[in-house]
Amino acid sequence: MERNCQEPLQNYCGECLIFFIVFLHSACGKMWKEESMMQFSKRLDRFGDEIFAALNDRRLQLEAQGKKIYNMSVGTPDFATPVHIKEALSQAALLDDNWKYSLRDLPELLQAVCSYYRRRFQVEITPDMVMTVYGSQEGMGHLGMVLCDEGDTVLLPDPCYPVFAAGSLLAGAEPWYYPLTAEHDFLPYVKGIPEEIARKAKYMVVSLPSNPVGSIAAPGLYEELVEFAEKYDILLVHDNAYSDIIFDDVYGGSFLATPGAKEIGVEFFSLSKSFNVTGARISFLIGRPDVIAALRKLRSQIDFGMFLPVQQAAIAALNGPLESVKEQCRKYQERRDALCNGLQELGWDRPNGKGTMFVWARIPGGRMDSMDFCMELMEKAGVIVTPGASFGPHGEGYVRFALVLPPDKIREAVEAIRNSDFS
Ligand SMILES: Cc1ncc(COP(=O)(O)O)c(C=O)c1O
Repeated sequence: MERNCQEPLQNYCGECLIFFIVFLHSACGKMWKEESMMQFSKRLDRFGDEIFAALNDRRLQLEAQGKKIYNMSVGTPDFATPVHIKEALSQAALLDDNWKYSLRDLPELLQAVCSYYRRRFQVEITPDMVMTVYGSQEGMGHLGMVLCDEGDTVLLPDPCYPVFAAGSLLAGAEPWYYPLTAEHDFLPYVKGIPEEIARKAKYMVVSLPSNPVGSIAAPGLYEELVEFAEKYDILLVHDNAYSDIIFDDVYGGSFLATPGAKEIGVEFFSLSKSFNVTGARISFLIGRPDVIAALRKLRSQIDFGMFLPVQQAAIAALNGPLESVKEQCRKYQERRDALCNGLQELGWDRPNGKGTMFVWARIPGGRMDSMDFCMELMEKAGVIVTPGASFGPHGEGYVRFALVLPPDKIREAVEAIRNSDFS
């Protein structure tokens, strides 16, 4: 099915938006007088509403009725945080001085990131190339404001991890979505980007291993991206949230190891998924010093620095052992195998799952309505997954499974699908 890849992502939340508005109206209509309605910024109109609201409500109803639910829609790991990281945080929290404004990234922390990049990725960086962010989510959310003026063009993937779009929309930029399709192994295909768009683009977001599509960088891809970015003077922003969740003995590296990447790119590096510290919000922007300085300048207007015990926890993670990270990757792979083998046995196309904690599956039977399919899958099999369309138009016809259950539970979920009308 041919789709316009420039169609705004938020259109796909239309149904939920209507649901949400109707709900709000009936719940609050009596309390609010129309004349006292606050006029909020038009900026908010750039965003749709919670796509998962309808799915969540139905899940709660089904659970209340005692239906067995397999929730494979959430993006939060179920693995434990390593003890040495928790201890570093709790010990630091006992010192009164650590409760003051930190005002800066600790030099030991910046140094720990540099050492980690050398040890883990064989990439040489210096402290002026590193800054903390409160998760790649927050960093990406603010980076657009540093790089773009109103109306500037930004290149984003479709399907797109939502904050890539939000960051550019907050900046008033115009996203141009490059499609990630099965035809090109769900990878960026720069030859498909029109020259006039490439000339205008300010920055391009690439994220591999990729959420939601589960693809990983093919050999030579980063080199091709660097060449493209150099030719059109585009800043490449690589989101490396899943460098440690990559399967089948493939090495999960850093984009910055590519020759020329440090000159035209920056990389978000997150501890969230590698060390199961999602709630602590520990990530870094790494790369071109001028971009780092610019984002620092913006954030210094609104922020007094990362909580010092969290900085100490980050140092412990970066300087500590990495065996548990490798072991965890092995466990994710077992889950990936249980799911992909199971779905394939049911007659589904083998899903794409080369990396990340997600698997991207084409809906069987050529169905395209991913939201309807997810509702039906939950009703009939009790399996909750995320509709592909919530990540953009090219996600239609697909669903995303999160590998947040152990293999035996995943096999049970597959059995539940087999025993429903879907097999
Ligand atoms: C592609 C991608 N980038 C960034 C994030 C968020 O990372 P952080 O916890 O560092 O904000 C996620 C979380 O699911 C993700 O999937």
